[in-house]
Amino acid sequence: MTSILAMQEVKKHFPVKRSFIEGLVGTKAKQVRAVDGVSLDIIEGETFVLVGESGSGKTTLGKLALRVYLPTSGKVIFEGKDISALRGKGLKDFRKSAQMVYQDPVAALNPRTRIGEAIGEPLRFHGVRDSSARRERVLKMMRKVGFDPAEDFFTRYPHEISGGQRQRVVIARALILEPRFVVADEPVAMLDVSIRAQILKLLLDLKGEMNLTLLIITHDIAIAKYFADRVAIMYLGQVVESASKDEVFENPMHPYTKALFSSVPVPDPEASRRRLIIKGEIPSAITPPPGCRFNPRCPYVFDRCRVEDPMLRRSGDGHLVACHLYDRAGQRAEGEHSH
Ligand SMILES: Nc1ncnc2c1ncn2[C@@H]1O[C@H](COP(=O)(O)OP(=O)(O)O)[C@@H](O)[C@H]1O
Ligand SMILES: [Mg+2]
Repeated sequence: MTSILAMQEVKKHFPVKRSFIEGLVGTKAKQVRAVDGVSLDIIEGETFVLVGESGSGKTTLGKLALRVYLPTSGKVIFEGKDISALRGKGLKDFRKSAQMVYQDPVAALNPRTRIGEAIGEPLRFHGVRDSSARRERVLKMMRKVGFDPAEDFFTRYPHEISGGQRQRVVIARALILEPRFVVADEPVAMLDVSIRAQILKLLLDLKGEMNLTLLIITHDIAIAKYFADRVAIMYLGQVVESASKDEVFENPMHPYTKALFSSVPVPDPEASRRRLIIKGEIPSAITPPPGCRFNPRCPYVFDRCRVEDPMLRRSGDGHLVACHLYDRAGQRAEGEHSH
């Protein structure tokens, strides 16, 4: 099991603009702690699904993984190298090897660029000058993502194809350089429910065919259930639980994870009686609550949770959880991470 991407205590804080009044009275500039101390390890060849509510820092984490953002602190390691330190050819190789599939295919595509050209742009950018060679590679990629006959679609504009087809174009463009690692940020959130499964299945088929490692980012726990090898649950800038899919679904530990599962509709009345409902909204990432960030919404909160931020620690086979409920004094395992 080789790690392809590792994060070590990664933080990304954004400055918040002060209002005019705050400026006058000299209020200290605030920070949004979008990602606030994340450590994780993605294994070559796996589908790693990162789940969290809107605002929990998922997109920021995805951008940190691809060096769209540099971390405020901590390290992002890709194939053994700190990506912040890459320059020149090393950086160019990284840009080919690691790609993003964006959430919104309409925003990601220029309405005046024909889809064949859009898919071929990364090739041009990475030095494939011969236009007929480019066209051949694009057509081959278009067939892979399901355009048939590809030639008929090559010259169409984004508005001339369906939403699902536009997402296929975005996927084709992300894969045209034959990357090894792909981040898909809410890849089906903007699509009709009826075609979501097709697009996710396409991603998984391509993953097998092209030997990809996938990081899928989603607010929808159902996507993790069907497509993940491993799952991490994110809450307010931190990973609160991480394990294999089976572990997470059969033995969810963190109260937040349990609450996420209970918001998935269940046909079984017995299960619905056991639902755990969380109160309130996700607090702000500017002033997260002291102690455990989930404590104001947690039904099991006790004193320690209000003062001490729990560490992400091992609790069973490859299962990590950041919750004081599972901390037995003297059981501090090797290799635990503090936030
Ligand atoms: N470029 C930015 N500048 C300032 N704040 C940002 C920026 N990007 C994200 N944020 C803030 O960081 C937090 C996490 O955002 P994001 O990573 O987009 O979460 P998610 O993808 O889980 O919805 C939010 O509070 C968001 O407003
Ligand atoms: Mg997002």
